Amino acid sequence: MNKPAAVFLDSGIGGLPYLAWVKNQRPNLAVSYLADTAHFPYGELSSSRIIQAAAEAAQLIQARLNPSLIAVVCNTASVNALEEIRRTVSCPVVGTVPAVKPAAQESSTKPIGILATQGTVNSPYLNSLIAAYAPHREIVRAAAGDIVRYVEEDWLDDSGIGARDVMQRALGILKQAEVETVVIGCTHFLHVAEIIQDMLGGVRLIDSREGVGRRILSLLDESSPVSGEDHFYVSRSAAGMDRYRRFAELYGLKWMGELT
Ligand code: DGL
Repeated sequence: MNKPAAVFLDSGIGGLPYLAWVKNQRPNLAVSYLADTAHFPYGELSSSRIIQAAAEAAQLIQARLNPSLIAVVCNTASVNALEEIRRTVSCPVVGTVPAVKPAAQESSTKPIGILATQGTVNSPYLNSLIAAYAPHREIVRAAAGDIVRYVEEDWLDDSGIGARDVMQRALGILKQAEVETVVIGCTHFLHVAEIIQDMLGGVRLIDSREGVGRRILSLLDESSPVSGEDHFYVSRSAAGMDRYRRFAELYGLKWMGELT
């Protein structure tokens, strides 16, 4: 099997829209995706466990797939573990962090909402992003691990029917604060961005998909591996894997099961 140009890593299926963005730009680029199902959800782990889990997953990717680049398409893993991941693998690593800078640049003076996991909302890295790019802005943080679980476990089967109930609490916090812009600071939420937009009305949603995608492409030159077939792996195969197989199909990836 040829080595992939880029392997995308998330705790689950959150990073798939990032892979889709890149494939849309470079359809023949050889890519693979690893959902770290052994440690999902990252957002509810302590920072030291997130560091350990994400670094282990990146090492597994390097040892088994040996890509030109690893894209950590998970905000929780990136804000907690990017340094450790970069220390432990030898290929370039692209991270995904909440788009605080564009949100501050592209909005007026009204509050900015950040919708993310507990592990991101509580991270010193997020504090430093805010201090650097939005020091004088009112920031409203809403942690929504329940939306992560919903997207990972239920969304595919209930076609969005239960989504509004799950989102009510976190989006209520943002509405009440009258935010003008909301940073989608968790990749899982991109899958349900249309519903979030509908529930928040005229609020502007900002995510990092294009910025991260461009960064990935800038690091891969024209000689990067091309493929006729891209692959989807999980780090642990257990009950409920049919859902992952279907996500793989939806994104045009071949289901490979557990990466061992
Ligand atoms: N998709 C991940 C992110 O962007 C988090 C999901 C999880 O909690 O595992 O933060």
